Amino acid sequence: MRILHVVGARPNFMKVAPLLRAMGRHPDIFQSFLVHTGQHYDPQLSDVFFEELGLPQPDINLGVGSGTHTQQTASVMLRFEETLNQLKPDAVVVVGDVNSTLACALVCAKERVPVAHVEAGLRSFDPGMPEEINRVLTDRISDLLLTPSPDADENLRREGYPPERIVCVGNVMIDTLARLLPQAEKRWEALRTRLGTRPYVFVTLHRPSNVDDPKNLSEIMDVLAEIAKRIAVVFPVHPRTRQSLRSAGIRPAPGVQLVEPLGYLDCVAAQRHSDFILTDSGGIQEESTYLGVPCLTLRPNTERPITITHGTNRLVPGAPRDLLHEANRLLDGDRPGPRCPPLWDGHAAERIVEVLQSFLTGRRKPSENLALQI
Ligand code: UD1
Repeated sequence: MRILHVVGARPNFMKVAPLLRAMGRHPDIFQSFLVHTGQHYDPQLSDVFFEELGLPQPDINLGVGSGTHTQQTASVMLRFEETLNQLKPDAVVVVGDVNSTLACALVCAKERVPVAHVEAGLRSFDPGMPEEINRVLTDRISDLLLTPSPDADENLRREGYPPERIVCVGNVMIDTLARLLPQAEKRWEALRTRLGTRPYVFVTLHRPSNVDDPKNLSEIMDVLAEIAKRIAVVFPVHPRTRQSLRSAGIRPAPGVQLVEPLGYLDCVAAQRHSDFILTDSGGIQEESTYLGVPCLTLRPNTERPITITHGTNRLVPGAPRDLLHEANRLLDGDRPGPRCPPLWDGHAAERIVEVLQSFLTGRRKPSENLALQI
């Protein structure tokens, strides 16, 4: 069976790595191809992940680069259509919720190639978030909906998907975290020297809703300056955030240490050893839960509610206004206890491979049409 795996942006790489490894253990059954759309192309957002996660070089790089959402989605579609026709896979696996995920799933739907969506069913119910559109539409045109948690199953059932298309396989990103945590730990001493040897808050922010508006970003930076009076702030800066800081002429306050984006292993080590985390990333909400480190999410909603009900995450809906209050709460010792959601056990990829195999060999039938059963 020829399986084509799609990656495009930073959060995809750690989800596809365990799948390729798990399929690689069955060379008699699966032949995997890796397609990189090129949505992320900076070495710091892409190459370093291939190296650290042990990903093979992509068989094909579509090289789409940046653009508006429409340009990017359309470019991926045009170039991916050629790839699909060239490789003729039996199925395509897409992960997560980035523009590349939707673009490739849509091409498959049009070409009638079965699609498995890994991380299906997550919903923020926030239509203003580009990823929410990508999630809803990708699920709508996927044949297999592989979910990370029961809340995602519930969302899909509520939307009318037939139960045989939904399988809760657990969190595949945690497979990578569980495997590479020892290697990340080995890098801690060197990283600690680079960052300075004091307690710190680890910050990542890149959502358009937080960083695109200069006034909002400036207010967030002011709160970080207040937090830095109590504890150091370490903030690896995403290219989108860097552009906004630059164009708004915002300078960091003393105690707020801006650094280059970190590779995977350093990012895990920096989270693990932080006092707490402040983020708007989806993946970091999950990683901090697994690591048992308190996390404040600067968003009014999350598509990953299990990190709140079963993990260490707290939303800051009124950010930046309520951020200082929530940070002080943590610094004063009001901290969520570490807990880990079920099926975040390092074996999600093995379950996905099993499901995919039975799906493709006909035991689990792809739906003949995509009509919703309500
Ligand atoms: C994308 C995903 C988001 C994910 C994030 C992780 C979508 C809609 N968004 O957002 O879900 O959380 O990746 O990082 O798919 N840029 C570079 N170098 C790169 C890539 C981008 O400098 O390698 C700059 C470009 O100026 C670009 C901007 O960053 O315009 C934003 O990149 P883009 O891929 O459009 O969205 P992200 O904000 O990275």
